[in-house]
Amino acid sequence: MAEKAVQNGFPEFAAGISGTSPQGRGPTVPPFDYIIFGGTGDLTFRKLLPSLYSTFRDGLVDRSSRIIGASRSALSDEAYRTRVMEALSRHLPKDEMDQDDCRAFLAQISYVELDALGQAGWENLAATLGDSDRVRVFYLATSPDIFGPICRQLKNADLINDKSRVVLEKPIGHDLGTARQINHDVGQVFDEQAIFRIDHYLGKESVQNLLALRFANALFDPLWNSRYIEHIQITVAETVGVEGRGGYYDHAGALRDMVQNHLLQVMCLVAMEPPSQLATEAVRDEKMKVLSSLGPIAREEVLNRTVRGQYSAGAIGGQPVVGYLEEPGITADSDTETFVSLKTEVHNWRWAGMPFYLRTGKRLATKTSEIVVQFRAVPHSIFPGYSSQELLPNKLVIRVQPNEGVHLHMMTKEPGPGGLRLREAVLNLSFSDTFKQRSPDAYERLLLDVVRGAPTLFMRRDEVEAAWKWIEPILDGWQEYNVRPKPYVAGTWGPSASVAMIERDYRSWHDEVDPER
Ligand code: BG6
Repeated sequence: MAEKAVQNGFPEFAAGISGTSPQGRGPTVPPFDYIIFGGTGDLTFRKLLPSLYSTFRDGLVDRSSRIIGASRSALSDEAYRTRVMEALSRHLPKDEMDQDDCRAFLAQISYVELDALGQAGWENLAATLGDSDRVRVFYLATSPDIFGPICRQLKNADLINDKSRVVLEKPIGHDLGTARQINHDVGQVFDEQAIFRIDHYLGKESVQNLLALRFANALFDPLWNSRYIEHIQITVAETVGVEGRGGYYDHAGALRDMVQNHLLQVMCLVAMEPPSQLATEAVRDEKMKVLSSLGPIAREEVLNRTVRGQYSAGAIGGQPVVGYLEEPGITADSDTETFVSLKTEVHNWRWAGMPFYLRTGKRLATKTSEIVVQFRAVPHSIFPGYSSQELLPNKLVIRVQPNEGVHLHMMTKEPGPGGLRLREAVLNLSFSDTFKQRSPDAYERLLLDVVRGAPTLFMRRDEVEAAWKWIEPILDGWQEYNVRPKPYVAGTWGPSASVAMIERDYRSWHDEVDPER
């Protein structure tokens, strides 16, 4: 048997399946109303609406479903649809735009002008929704400080039906205290099963593929521990700057914006024990165990185990770019970090004594997200002329983006007569070559999982709080020891201190150029 498509692996997917899409991309979802608060925001136009359009185009969405944008701007339905159309044209590849599909998609969209904190607009929203008992998703793409108030308004306006769910965009809070408050306030209105805390990294194909790699192959598990693995690196490098989000970013910084959520969630999937089945609570319980076993970085350790950086003017792809302090919306003397690298451990039986290095930054040399699993060297060399150190240890590189794939670095014999010469070669699994189909955006999967009522790929309340609990001493340490970000030139791999941090341990960052580019 060549291939078997294991479909609907999540038991929760059984709920709400109403057919199969003509394109064979899984089940269509039941008709829904998606209400997007922050309906004119960057995320809505850049990600949410283009992703909904793609699922619609793939035949996954029932055509009676509705999308309602809600925000303070005064806009007619027509004016809103015009902006949606502009956003689709800007953010989707040309070959995915089809006039008939666009027209039909726009027909599903309407707009409500609404004051999230005041009285205006709520009656209109109620009238638009009517008393339908279809799935109702309230997507809060707003600042987190109004998550609680919006939920209270939803309750007061009697808009919550039996099939309502709420989606909370990250960041959930600014620190542990604010995260707890938000979770508490939202929890007063919605049950935990109806709260979907989104981390779009969990919707990425290659991040989910980590589960397949680890738990659908017997090959890796016996080696997946500190006895055979020397260290693990997780890098999320971006070439973009703050992209007009200066106001938000300057108050957040890379640790809050990326490490607290995306990097720690990926690390959980790398480090967790096999769950008994791919079911929501089983997976979340295992992730939670990793978060609560994270070796704390105490305040006084921040100088040795973390590096903060901030980009200065430089060049990306040969084009000059300004430094962080010259970006719009950034305070002139800001000490917000746009880069962070750190070293941590997982204090449990499997990982004891083995470091995990995490690194993320904006305006770095290339856009690359990857997990690098560095195995230990062979214990003894049988090859004349090669010491065991000269036999390069195996390295498994899981490339999350771009060019998703898995590369296994191995020692091989160089072909040809004469002495036995060894060389490193790479076994390469490229997803795009293997599966010749469009790789959906992470949001496409997650937006429909909300409708399906499938929360496996979303964060549970305790996960978010545990992640903040681990992050907080780092933030406190930076403040207490006045650790200002070190400058790095845009287009490089961050401050030299980040290289020094890993080199102190006689290791180096895996910065090889993507073999597919
Ligand atoms: C978001 C961050 O969550 O993730 C952004 O707020 C970041 O700052 C983005 O650019 C990265 O996502 P992706 O999918 O482009 O890697």
